[in-house]
Amino acid sequence: MDIETLANLSREERRFAPPAEFAANANLTAVAYEEATRDRLGFWEKQAERLTWDTRWDRVLDWSNPPFAKWFVGGRLNAAYNAVDRHVEEGAGDKVAFHWIGEPADDARSITYSELKDEVCQAANALVDLGVQAGDRVAIYMPMIPETVVAMLACARLGAPHTVVFGGFSAEALASRIEDCQAKIVITADGGYRRGVPSALKPAVDEALAKLGSRSAVDHVLVVRRTGQTIPFDEVTDVWWHELVASQSVEHTCESFDSEHPLYVMYTSGTTGAPKGILHTTGGYLTGAAYTHWGVFDLKAETDVYWCTADVGWVTGHSYLVYGPLINRTTSVIYEGVPDSPHKGRWWEIIEKYGVTILYTAPTAIRTFMKWGDEIPAKHDLSSLRLLGSVGEPINPEAYVWYRETIGGGRTPVVDTWWQTETGAIMVSPLPGVSDAKPGSAMRAIPGIVADVVNDEGASVPDGTGGYLVIREPWPSMLRTLWGDDQRFKETYWSRWEGMYFAGDGAKKDEDGDVWVLGRVDDVMNVSGHRLSTTEIESALVSHPKVAEAAVVGANDETTGQAVCAYVILREAAGDGGSDIVQELRDHVARGIGAIAKPRQILIVAELPKTRSGKIMRRLLRDVAENREVGDVSTLADSTVMNLIAVGASTSAED
Ligand code: WT7
Repeated sequence: MDIETLANLSREERRFAPPAEFAANANLTAVAYEEATRDRLGFWEKQAERLTWDTRWDRVLDWSNPPFAKWFVGGRLNAAYNAVDRHVEEGAGDKVAFHWIGEPADDARSITYSELKDEVCQAANALVDLGVQAGDRVAIYMPMIPETVVAMLACARLGAPHTVVFGGFSAEALASRIEDCQAKIVITADGGYRRGVPSALKPAVDEALAKLGSRSAVDHVLVVRRTGQTIPFDEVTDVWWHELVASQSVEHTCESFDSEHPLYVMYTSGTTGAPKGILHTTGGYLTGAAYTHWGVFDLKAETDVYWCTADVGWVTGHSYLVYGPLINRTTSVIYEGVPDSPHKGRWWEIIEKYGVTILYTAPTAIRTFMKWGDEIPAKHDLSSLRLLGSVGEPINPEAYVWYRETIGGGRTPVVDTWWQTETGAIMVSPLPGVSDAKPGSAMRAIPGIVADVVNDEGASVPDGTGGYLVIREPWPSMLRTLWGDDQRFKETYWSRWEGMYFAGDGAKKDEDGDVWVLGRVDDVMNVSGHRLSTTEIESALVSHPKVAEAAVVGANDETTGQAVCAYVILREAAGDGGSDIVQELRDHVARGIGAIAKPRQILIVAELPKTRSGKIMRRLLRDVAENREVGDVSTLADSTVMNLIAVGASTSAED
């Protein structure tokens, strides 16, 4: 995306002011912006007081060695104690922490804070039995079941950073993550349910470990029995959760850790093939998650029933399904399955049954519901909802307005929250009790965050102009580094302009100075709110024996935001690849990365458009994928190449 495109945004005139009653009772009011501007560090200190510290910090921020930040220096705390134990100690043990809803009908369980505390302590004791010590890494590869949250909190309790790998990722993707952070234990399940069918997970762990061989540091695999399906089980390495955990004591005295102690590593795609291990630490991260969850969602812990639909395998699941809500003593819903199992009204049925008041989901889901039709949500009473949230990709105004009207009954503010795995918590978002929200705009940096839109030279652009989204000042929940790679951390985020964090997104400031996030300006795609790297998928394709070369682009897609489109040159020896070549390559990508990375479209071509220096011109491939007239080809080494590709495109089967 170039600067010119960034500036040409259509106008959106609709405004939605907060309802008066909402504004009158809002957790965060306009004063917070002033307070934070006047004394940013003081503002963050106040937010850190949401946590219970064993030792208070003696310095808010150490920024003496940028970009390596230290927040709440000298402070000590325990993350699990803050999420669970303290609520029980303060008399809220009987409050429901989670209404967990399994995908099979009638499979549900409500877990109180005191039950959660017992289970976390048992799991922590079990991990100690397996030799886990503070600092050891634990990989978690699980479906959306209560044990997943318990496992994360048990790790946090022991100071053993977890790395949760999304259950939809392949054995290969799991292996690379286990290896990169040298995990000592893997926690998994026999399987999970997807569209009513048990789908195995444990075999992928076995495959990952077999693949790694001596490069793996894993001693044990702890296995939750969820589906009861038959799985391979090794008597030496594998341990059943129900055998080891259930027999443990429900008491576990937790230790406090330094504010900067690693809490977790979350892998995410970058512009190169190798995923980046985003490191989050304890005090600052928890402060950011708790503050934003309280402020942006206007959480009233006594009365709200909050539902974040993200999978715990992504950062949204970490900050807004586990840590933020639990620290704030929230009652949350966790749903295991897909929205259309056993029927397309499943979500609305859940909202009605549990009286959900706050819903946080992704534009891709909203667009899917729009497609399914208004009559499906109309069958349910959704009047409990009072606030709606969106995250993961730009929300188009049509989807925003549909969400507000059809799901929110025209009463609910919608918060379009911009943030990233790296930022740990929401950075740019309307405040539901303050902002005159504009559909499609994430509005402004929240109090405490200093974001800006800058031009190529790093200068702040005037209102009404496009540029790049940056964050100018450090913030508590910022990533601290990339696991094991300080250099890549500096280069990726801090090298483009001195002293600024570059997020990789293009954005526009409108006439009022409000921010419209336009999407990535690098080779990163956003498919259904999930980040995928073009290079990673290209490498997966090229690893197939019939493939000589591949180029991948993200093309606009009505439902998923962007879709993966691949252009592939076959090896001579492969001939035309055979009649199933497209399916074969799609499956190959799914095996290499996961089903979410499967190209929507694969075009077998004879050539790829390259510049004289050999760089693939993805812009032109995007033109073809989006059925547009191909743009300027003057910098191509061979300007006739595009004719071949356009012809190939029109004859190649779409899958
Ligand atoms: C990228 C981060 C943050 C949790 C989910 C994704 C895009 C995210 C928005 C939004 C426009 C958004 C950006 C960002 N993005 N939220 N509200 N409006 N774009 O986390 O996988 O780290 O991806 O998602 O492009 O850079 P992630």
